[in-house]
Amino acid sequence: MHLPTVLSVVFAAAGVTAQLNDLAVAAGLKYFGTCGSEGNINSDTTYRNILNNKSEFGQLVPENGQKWDATEPSRGQFTYSSGDIVAGVAKQNGQLLRCHTLVWYSQLPSWVSGGSWNRSTLQSVIETHINNVMGHYKGQCYAWDVVNEAVNDDGTWRPSVFLSTFNTDYFAISFRAAKAADPNTKLYYNDYNLEYNQAKTDRAVELVKIVQAAGAPIDGVGFQGHLIVGSTPSRSALATTLKRFTALGVEVAYTELDIRHSSVPASSSALVTQGNDFANVVGSCLDVAGCVGVTIWGFTDKYSWIPQTFPGQGDALLYNSNFGKKPAWTSVSSVLAAKATNPPPAQTTTLATITTAPPAQTTTTSRPAVSTTSAAAPGGAQQTRWGQCGGIGWSGPTACQSPWTCQVLNPYYSQCL
Ligand code: G3I
Repeated sequence: MHLPTVLSVVFAAAGVTAQLNDLAVAAGLKYFGTCGSEGNINSDTTYRNILNNKSEFGQLVPENGQKWDATEPSRGQFTYSSGDIVAGVAKQNGQLLRCHTLVWYSQLPSWVSGGSWNRSTLQSVIETHINNVMGHYKGQCYAWDVVNEAVNDDGTWRPSVFLSTFNTDYFAISFRAAKAADPNTKLYYNDYNLEYNQAKTDRAVELVKIVQAAGAPIDGVGFQGHLIVGSTPSRSALATTLKRFTALGVEVAYTELDIRHSSVPASSSALVTQGNDFANVVGSCLDVAGCVGVTIWGFTDKYSWIPQTFPGQGDALLYNSNFGKKPAWTSVSSVLAAKATNPPPAQTTTLATITTAPPAQTTTTSRPAVSTTSAAAPGGAQQTRWGQCGGIGWSGPTACQSPWTCQVLNPYYSQCL
Protein backbone atom coordinates (compact mmCIF):
# COMPACT_ATOMS: atom_id res chain seq x y z
CA MET A 1 0.00 0.00 0.00
CA HIS A 2 1.26 3.48 -0.80
CA LEU A 3 2.48 5.28 2.31
CA PRO A 4 0.19 8.32 2.15
CA THR A 5 -2.77 5.96 1.79
CA VAL A 6 -1.65 3.95 4.80
CA LEU A 7 -1.17 7.05 6.89
CA SER A 8 -4.53 8.39 5.79
CA VAL A 9 -6.21 5.33 7.24
CA VAL A 10 -4.22 5.51 10.49
CA PHE A 11 -4.78 9.17 11.10
CA ALA A 12 -8.37 9.29 9.95
CA ALA A 13 -9.14 7.12 12.95
CA ALA A 14 -7.61 9.80 15.16
CA GLY A 15 -9.29 12.68 13.34
CA VAL A 16 -6.00 13.70 11.71
CA THR A 17 -5.11 13.65 8.02
CA ALA A 18 -1.75 12.36 6.82
CA GLN A 19 -0.76 15.78 5.53
CA LEU A 20 2.25 17.66 6.70
CA ASN A 21 0.76 20.31 8.96
CA ASP A 22 -1.70 17.91 10.54
CA LEU A 23 1.10 15.45 11.20
CA ALA A 24 3.37 18.18 12.55
CA VAL A 25 0.72 19.40 14.96
CA ALA A 26 -0.01 15.82 16.05
CA ALA A 27 3.73 15.44 16.65
CA GLY A 28 3.70 18.49 18.92
CA LEU A 29 4.88 21.29 16.63
CA LYS A 30 2.91 24.49 16.17
CA TYR A 31 2.96 24.24 12.38
CA PHE A 32 4.47 22.97 9.17
CA GLY A 33 4.52 25.84 6.70
CA THR A 34 5.84 27.28 3.48
CA CYS A 35 6.59 30.65 1.99
CA GLY A 36 4.17 31.84 -0.64
CA SER A 37 5.38 33.41 -3.86
CA GLU A 38 3.34 36.54 -4.44
CA GLY A 39 3.72 36.43 -8.21
CA ASN A 40 2.33 32.92 -8.61
CA ILE A 41 -0.64 32.89 -6.28
CA ASN A 42 -3.09 34.38 -8.72
CA SER A 43 -1.54 33.02 -11.91
CA ASP A 44 -1.19 29.32 -11.08
CA THR A 45 -4.33 27.60 -9.83
CA THR A 46 -2.61 24.34 -8.90
CA TYR A 47 -0.04 26.25 -6.88
CA ARG A 48 -2.73 28.27 -5.14
CA ASN A 49 -4.85 25.24 -4.33
CA ILE A 50 -1.98 23.47 -2.57
CA LEU A 51 -1.05 26.65 -0.73
CA ASN A 52 -4.66 26.94 0.43
CA ASN A 53 -4.58 23.51 2.06
CA LYS A 54 -4.24 24.14 5.79
CA SER A 55 -3.80 20.44 6.50
CA GLU A 56 -0.65 20.53 4.38
CA PHE A 57 0.62 24.01 5.28
CA GLY A 58 -0.63 25.48 8.54
CA GLN A 59 1.55 28.53 8.25
CA LEU A 60 2.56 30.87 5.41
CA VAL A 61 5.32 33.45 4.95
CA PRO A 62 5.34 36.17 2.29
CA GLU A 63 8.42 35.39 0.19
CA ASN A 64 9.15 39.00 -0.73
CA GLY A 65 6.14 41.23 -0.09
CA GLN A 66 6.93 42.41 3.43
CA LYS A 67 10.55 43.36 2.79
CA TRP A 68 11.71 46.97 3.02
CA ASP A 69 11.91 47.52 -0.76
CA ALA A 70 8.32 46.31 -1.10
CA THR A 71 6.79 48.14 1.87
CA GLU A 72 8.65 51.48 1.97
CA PRO A 73 10.29 51.95 -1.44
CA SER A 74 10.47 55.72 -0.85
CA ARG A 75 10.89 57.36 2.52
CA GLY A 76 7.58 57.56 4.32
CA GLN A 77 5.64 56.03 1.39
CA PHE A 78 4.22 52.76 2.67
CA THR A 79 2.56 50.20 0.45
CA TYR A 80 1.25 46.78 1.37
CA SER A 81 -0.19 45.54 -1.92
CA SER A 82 2.43 42.79 -2.25
CA GLY A 83 2.70 41.91 1.44
CA ASP A 84 -1.05 41.59 1.74
CA ILE A 85 -1.23 38.85 -0.90
CA VAL A 86 0.11 36.01 1.25
CA ALA A 87 -1.22 37.58 4.44
CA GLY A 88 -4.66 37.54 2.82
CA VAL A 89 -4.40 33.87 1.82
CA ALA A 90 -3.39 32.92 5.36
CA LYS A 91 -6.24 34.92 6.85
CA GLN A 92 -8.79 33.42 4.48
CA ASN A 93 -7.66 29.89 5.28
CA GLY A 94 -7.05 30.31 9.00
CA GLN A 95 -3.33 29.61 8.56
CA LEU A 96 -0.68 31.11 10.83
CA LEU A 97 1.41 33.89 9.32
CA ARG A 98 5.15 34.29 9.84
CA CYS A 99 6.22 37.77 8.88
CA HIS A 100 9.49 38.47 7.06
CA THR A 101 11.46 40.77 7.42
CA LEU A 102 12.26 44.22 8.87
CA VAL A 103 15.95 45.12 9.23
CA TRP A 104 18.06 43.45 6.54
CA TYR A 105 20.96 44.64 4.42
CA SER A 106 19.37 43.13 1.27
CA GLN A 107 16.25 44.20 -0.61
CA LEU A 108 16.87 47.50 1.12
CA PRO A 109 15.99 50.56 -0.96
CA SER A 110 18.89 52.78 -1.94
CA TRP A 111 17.40 55.71 -0.06
CA VAL A 112 18.26 53.75 3.10
CA SER A 113 21.46 51.93 2.09
CA GLY A 114 22.94 54.98 0.34
CA GLY A 115 21.66 57.65 2.70
CA SER A 116 23.78 59.93 4.79
CA TRP A 117 22.82 59.14 8.35
CA ASN A 118 23.86 59.70 11.92
CA ARG A 119 22.63 57.56 14.82
CA SER A 120 19.67 59.78 15.51
CA THR A 121 18.37 60.05 11.96
CA LEU A 122 18.82 56.36 11.11
CA GLN A 123 17.23 55.28 14.38
CA SER A 124 14.23 57.38 13.46
CA VAL A 125 14.12 55.73 10.01
CA ILE A 126 14.26 52.23 11.54
CA GLU A 127 11.59 53.01 14.12
CA THR A 128 9.29 54.61 11.57
CA HIS A 129 9.65 51.63 9.25
CA ILE A 130 9.05 49.05 11.96
CA ASN A 131 6.17 50.97 13.51
CA ASN A 132 4.34 51.34 10.22
CA VAL A 133 4.91 47.86 8.79
CA MET A 134 4.29 46.00 12.03
CA GLY A 135 1.40 48.30 12.74
CA HIS A 136 -0.21 47.32 9.43
CA TYR A 137 0.08 43.62 10.27
CA LYS A 138 -0.56 43.98 13.98
CA GLY A 139 -2.32 40.94 15.40
CA GLN A 140 -1.77 38.86 12.25
CA CYS A 141 1.79 37.59 12.70
CA TYR A 142 2.75 34.61 14.82
CA ALA A 143 6.33 35.88 14.55
CA TRP A 144 8.36 38.61 12.86
CA ASP A 145 11.91 38.29 11.59
CA VAL A 146 13.08 41.57 13.09
CA VAL A 147 16.76 41.38 12.18
CA ASN A 148 17.84 39.22 9.26
CA GLU A 149 21.29 37.90 8.27
CA ALA A 150 23.49 40.20 10.36
CA VAL A 151 26.42 37.77 10.42
CA ASN A 152 28.84 36.68 7.68
CA ASP A 153 29.68 33.03 7.17
CA ASP A 154 33.14 33.59 8.70
CA GLY A 155 31.59 34.86 11.91
CA THR A 156 32.28 38.56 11.40
CA TRP A 157 29.46 41.08 11.53
CA ARG A 158 27.97 41.66 8.10
CA PRO A 159 28.66 45.15 6.74
CA SER A 160 25.59 47.32 6.21
CA VAL A 161 24.45 50.88 6.69
CA PHE A 162 23.09 49.69 10.04
CA LEU A 163 26.41 48.26 11.25
CA SER A 164 28.45 51.24 10.05
CA THR A 165 26.12 53.67 11.81
CA PHE A 166 25.43 51.83 15.08
CA ASN A 167 27.92 48.99 15.31
CA THR A 168 25.81 46.28 17.02
CA ASP A 169 23.47 48.70 18.77
CA TYR A 170 20.99 48.41 15.93
CA PHE A 171 19.94 44.99 17.17
CA ALA A 172 18.48 46.29 20.42
CA ILE A 173 17.07 49.39 18.69
CA SER A 174 15.20 47.18 16.22
CA PHE A 175 13.90 44.67 18.75
CA ARG A 176 12.70 47.42 21.08
CA ALA A 177 10.88 49.16 18.24
CA ALA A 178 9.29 45.86 17.25
CA LYS A 179 8.04 45.19 20.77
CA ALA A 180 6.49 48.65 20.91
CA ALA A 181 4.77 48.18 17.54
CA ASP A 182 3.22 44.75 18.28
CA PRO A 183 3.77 43.41 21.81
CA ASN A 184 2.05 40.09 21.04
CA THR A 185 4.16 38.67 18.24
CA LYS A 186 7.33 36.61 18.61
CA LEU A 187 10.44 38.60 17.73
CA TYR A 188 13.11 36.61 15.85
CA TYR A 189 16.67 36.89 14.68
CA ASN A 190 16.85 34.93 11.39
CA ASP A 191 19.90 33.67 9.48
CA TYR A 192 21.27 30.90 7.25
CA ASN A 193 24.18 28.49 7.78
CA LEU A 194 23.65 28.49 11.52
CA GLU A 195 23.10 24.75 11.06
CA TYR A 196 26.81 23.98 10.79
CA ASN A 197 27.64 25.05 14.34
CA GLN A 198 30.74 26.96 13.37
CA ALA A 199 31.96 30.57 13.69
CA LYS A 200 28.74 31.99 12.30
CA THR A 201 26.68 30.12 14.86
CA ASP A 202 28.96 31.34 17.65
CA ARG A 203 28.39 34.92 16.54
CA ALA A 204 24.63 34.44 16.36
CA VAL A 205 24.70 33.16 19.93
CA GLU A 206 26.59 36.33 20.81
CA LEU A 207 23.95 38.40 19.01
CA VAL A 208 21.21 36.96 21.18
CA LYS A 209 23.29 37.67 24.27
CA ILE A 210 23.92 41.25 23.12
CA VAL A 211 20.19 41.88 22.74
CA GLN A 212 19.43 40.28 26.08
CA ALA A 213 22.24 42.18 27.84
CA ALA A 214 20.77 45.43 26.51
CA GLY A 215 17.48 44.51 28.16
CA ALA A 216 15.73 44.34 24.79
CA PRO A 217 13.21 41.62 23.91
CA ILE A 218 14.06 38.67 21.68
CA ASP A 219 11.88 35.55 21.52
CA GLY A 220 13.33 33.33 18.85
CA VAL A 221 16.06 32.42 16.42
CA GLY A 222 15.21 31.26 12.91
CA PHE A 223 17.43 28.68 11.27
CA GLN A 224 16.78 29.35 7.61
CA GLY A 225 17.98 25.92 6.54
CA HIS A 226 19.22 26.57 2.99
CA LEU A 227 21.09 23.30 2.81
CA ILE A 228 22.75 20.99 0.28
CA VAL A 229 21.90 17.36 -0.45
CA GLY A 230 24.54 15.09 1.07
CA SER A 231 26.09 17.88 3.15
CA THR A 232 23.32 18.33 5.68
CA PRO A 233 24.37 17.75 9.31
CA SER A 234 22.99 14.72 11.13
CA ARG A 235 19.79 14.88 13.15
CA SER A 236 21.67 14.78 16.44
CA ALA A 237 24.20 17.43 15.37
CA LEU A 238 21.37 19.72 14.29
CA ALA A 239 19.54 19.19 17.57
CA THR A 240 22.72 20.03 19.48
CA THR A 241 22.99 23.30 17.57
CA LEU A 242 19.34 24.22 18.11
CA LYS A 243 19.83 23.66 21.83
CA ARG A 244 22.62 26.24 21.98
CA PHE A 245 19.87 28.80 21.42
CA THR A 246 17.07 27.30 23.49
CA ALA A 247 19.59 27.27 26.35
CA LEU A 248 19.47 31.07 26.12
CA GLY A 249 15.73 31.06 26.72
CA VAL A 250 14.59 31.68 23.14
CA GLU A 251 12.57 29.39 20.91
CA VAL A 252 13.89 28.16 17.57
CA ALA A 253 12.37 27.20 14.22
CA TYR A 254 13.46 26.22 10.75
CA THR A 255 12.24 29.18 8.76
CA GLU A 256 13.30 28.77 5.10
CA LEU A 257 14.14 25.10 4.64
CA ASP A 258 15.21 23.86 1.23
CA ILE A 259 17.85 21.26 0.40
CA ARG A 260 19.25 21.70 -3.07
CA HIS A 261 20.93 19.25 -5.37
CA SER A 262 24.38 20.40 -6.50
CA SER A 263 23.44 19.40 -10.01
CA VAL A 264 20.11 18.69 -11.64
CA PRO A 265 18.40 16.56 -12.70
CA ALA A 266 18.98 14.52 -9.57
CA SER A 267 19.56 10.77 -9.69
CA SER A 268 17.11 8.49 -7.91
CA SER A 269 19.67 7.85 -5.17
CA ALA A 270 20.19 11.60 -4.74
CA LEU A 271 16.42 11.95 -4.29
CA VAL A 272 16.57 9.38 -1.48
CA THR A 273 19.50 11.22 0.12
CA GLN A 274 17.51 14.43 -0.12
CA GLY A 275 14.66 12.72 1.71
CA ASN A 276 16.99 11.53 4.47
CA ASP A 277 18.41 15.05 4.79
CA PHE A 278 14.93 16.55 5.08
CA ALA A 279 13.99 13.93 7.67
CA ASN A 280 17.10 14.75 9.71
CA VAL A 281 16.26 18.45 9.74
CA VAL A 282 12.60 17.96 10.62
CA GLY A 283 13.55 15.24 13.10
CA SER A 284 15.96 17.57 14.87
CA CYS A 285 13.15 20.03 15.43
CA LEU A 286 11.04 17.23 16.90
CA ASP A 287 13.92 16.36 19.23
CA VAL A 288 14.22 19.85 20.74
CA ALA A 289 11.48 20.99 23.07
CA GLY A 290 11.89 24.66 22.11
CA CYS A 291 11.69 24.08 18.36
CA VAL A 292 8.23 25.28 17.35
CA GLY A 293 7.95 24.49 13.67
CA VAL A 294 9.33 24.05 10.19
CA THR A 295 8.78 26.32 7.20
CA ILE A 296 9.97 25.35 3.74
CA TRP A 297 11.04 28.08 1.32
CA GLY A 298 8.49 27.21 -1.33
CA PHE A 299 7.03 23.77 -1.88
CA THR A 300 7.41 23.12 -5.61
CA ASP A 301 10.55 22.92 -7.70
CA LYS A 302 8.60 24.88 -10.29
CA TYR A 303 9.24 28.06 -8.32
CA SER A 304 12.41 28.61 -6.32
CA TRP A 305 15.03 31.30 -5.85
CA ILE A 306 17.86 28.77 -6.19
CA PRO A 307 18.52 28.46 -9.95
CA GLN A 308 18.95 32.22 -10.22
CA THR A 309 21.42 32.32 -7.35
CA PHE A 310 23.13 28.97 -7.91
CA PRO A 311 22.94 28.20 -11.64
CA GLY A 312 22.72 24.48 -12.37
CA GLN A 313 21.56 23.64 -8.85
CA GLY A 314 18.12 23.26 -7.35
CA ASP A 315 15.13 20.91 -7.11
CA ALA A 316 15.35 21.60 -3.39
CA LEU A 317 11.72 21.22 -2.35
CA LEU A 318 9.12 18.57 -1.51
CA TYR A 319 7.03 18.68 -4.69
CA ASN A 320 8.49 18.41 -8.18
CA SER A 321 7.81 20.99 -10.86
CA ASN A 322 4.65 19.10 -11.91
CA PHE A 323 3.36 19.27 -8.33
CA GLY A 324 4.04 15.57 -7.70
CA LYS A 325 5.17 14.60 -4.21
CA LYS A 326 8.86 13.65 -4.14
CA PRO A 327 10.55 11.00 -1.96
CA ALA A 328 11.47 13.88 0.38
CA TRP A 329 7.76 14.53 0.99
CA THR A 330 7.34 10.92 2.10
CA SER A 331 10.40 11.13 4.34
CA VAL A 332 9.11 14.27 6.04
CA SER A 333 5.62 12.84 6.49
CA SER A 334 7.10 9.63 7.88
CA VAL A 335 9.33 11.27 10.45
CA LEU A 336 6.39 13.39 11.60
CA ALA A 337 4.08 10.39 11.67
CA ALA A 338 6.59 8.35 13.65
CA LYS A 339 6.67 11.02 16.36
CA ALA A 340 2.93 11.61 16.23
CA THR A 341 2.00 7.97 16.67
CA ASN A 342 4.60 7.03 19.24
CA PRO A 343 6.96 9.53 20.82
CA PRO A 344 10.09 7.39 21.38
CA PRO A 345 11.78 7.12 24.76
CA ALA A 346 15.31 8.44 25.32
CA GLN A 347 17.43 5.88 23.54
CA THR A 348 19.64 5.60 20.48
CA THR A 349 18.77 3.08 17.81
CA THR A 350 20.94 2.36 14.78
CA LEU A 351 19.88 0.61 11.62
CA ALA A 352 22.87 -0.90 9.88
CA THR A 353 21.41 -0.36 6.42
CA ILE A 354 21.25 3.42 6.76
CA THR A 355 24.39 5.20 5.60
CA THR A 356 23.61 8.66 6.97
CA ALA A 357 24.09 9.30 10.67
CA PRO A 358 21.14 7.89 12.59
CA PRO A 359 19.05 10.27 14.61
CA ALA A 360 19.71 10.51 18.32
CA GLN A 361 16.71 10.01 20.52
CA THR A 362 18.03 12.08 23.36
CA THR A 363 14.92 13.91 24.45
CA THR A 364 11.46 13.09 25.56
CA THR A 365 8.99 15.93 25.45
CA SER A 366 5.45 16.40 26.56
CA ARG A 367 4.18 16.41 22.99
CA PRO A 368 0.94 14.51 22.64
CA ALA A 369 0.72 11.10 21.05
CA VAL A 370 -2.12 10.55 18.63
CA SER A 371 -2.39 6.93 19.48
CA THR A 372 -0.38 4.23 21.14
CA THR A 373 -1.12 0.75 19.93
CA SER A 374 1.33 -1.53 21.65
CA ALA A 375 -0.17 -4.53 23.32
CA ALA A 376 1.31 -6.99 25.77
CA ALA A 377 1.67 -10.49 24.40
CA PRO A 378 3.53 -13.65 25.28
CA GLY A 379 7.15 -13.20 24.30
CA GLY A 380 7.05 -9.39 24.27
CA ALA A 381 4.98 -6.44 23.20
CA GLN A 382 3.28 -6.63 19.85
CA GLN A 383 1.70 -3.92 17.82
CA THR A 384 -1.86 -4.08 16.66
CA ARG A 385 -2.89 -3.47 13.06
CA TRP A 386 -1.70 -0.05 11.75
CA GLY A 387 0.78 0.44 14.60
CA GLN A 388 4.40 1.43 13.99
CA CYS A 389 6.80 -1.50 14.27
CA GLY A 390 10.11 -0.11 13.04
CA GLY A 391 12.08 2.69 11.45
CA ILE A 392 15.05 4.87 12.32
CA GLY A 393 14.82 5.93 15.93
CA TRP A 394 12.00 3.51 16.72
CA SER A 395 12.47 1.64 19.98
CA GLY A 396 8.97 0.24 20.49
CA PRO A 397 7.64 -3.20 19.59
CA THR A 398 8.88 -4.66 16.34
CA ALA A 399 6.46 -7.59 16.21
CA CYS A 400 2.84 -7.46 15.09
CA GLN A 401 -0.21 -9.24 16.42
CA SER A 402 -1.38 -12.05 14.17
CA PRO A 403 -2.29 -12.00 11.32
CA TRP A 404 -0.49 -8.69 10.67
CA THR A 405 3.14 -8.45 9.63
CA CYS A 406 5.64 -5.64 10.00
CA GLN A 407 6.19 -4.01 6.63
CA VAL A 408 8.94 -1.51 5.85
CA LEU A 409 7.39 1.53 4.19
CA ASN A 410 10.57 3.59 4.22
CA PRO A 411 13.66 3.89 6.46
CA TYR A 412 11.67 5.90 8.99
CA TYR A 413 8.46 3.99 9.24
CA SER A 414 7.46 0.35 9.33
CA GLN A 415 3.91 -0.59 10.06
CA CYS A 416 1.77 -3.57 11.04
CA LEU A 417 -0.33 -4.32 7.96
O1 G3I B 1 9.80 42.21 -8.40
C1 G3I B 1 10.81 42.27 -9.40
C2 G3I B 1 10.20 42.37 -10.75
O2 G3I B 1 9.50 43.60 -10.84
C3 G3I B 1 11.29 42.30 -11.81
O3 G3I B 1 10.72 42.28 -13.07
C4 G3I B 1 12.12 41.04 -11.61
C5 G3I B 1 13.29 40.97 -12.59
O4 G3I B 1 14.28 40.07 -12.14
O5 G3I B 1 12.64 41.03 -10.32
C6 G3I B 1 11.65 41.03 -9.32
O6 G3I B 1 12.26 41.00 -8.09
C7 G3I B 1 12.82 39.76 -7.69
C8 G3I B 1 12.19 39.35 -6.38
O7 G3I B 1 12.81 38.18 -5.88
C9 G3I B 1 10.69 39.09 -6.52
O8 G3I B 1 10.48 38.04 -7.41
C10 G3I B 1 14.31 39.92 -7.52
O9 G3I B 1 14.91 40.15 -8.78
C11 G3I B 1 14.90 38.70 -6.88
O10 G3I B 1 16.26 38.95 -6.57
C12 G3I B 1 14.17 38.38 -5.60
O11 G3I B 1 14.75 37.23 -5.04
C13 G3I B 1 14.36 36.93 -3.72
C14 G3I B 1 15.58 36.99 -2.81
O12 G3I B 1 15.19 36.61 -1.49
C15 G3I B 1 16.16 38.38 -2.76
O13 G3I B 1 17.23 38.43 -1.87
C16 G3I B 1 13.79 35.54 -3.70
O14 G3I B 1 12.55 35.52 -4.43
C17 G3I B 1 13.52 35.09 -2.25
O15 G3I B 1 13.18 33.74 -2.24
C18 G3I B 1 14.78 35.28 -1.44
O16 G3I B 1 14.49 34.93 -0.11
C19 G3I B 1 15.58 35.03 0.80
C20 G3I B 1 14.99 35.39 2.16
O17 G3I B 1 14.21 36.54 2.05
C21 G3I B 1 16.09 35.58 3.20
N1 G3I B 1 16.94 34.40 3.26
C22 G3I B 1 17.50 33.95 1.99
C23 G3I B 1 16.38 33.72 0.97
C24 G3I B 1 16.94 33.17 -0.34
O18 G3I B 1 17.78 34.08 -0.96
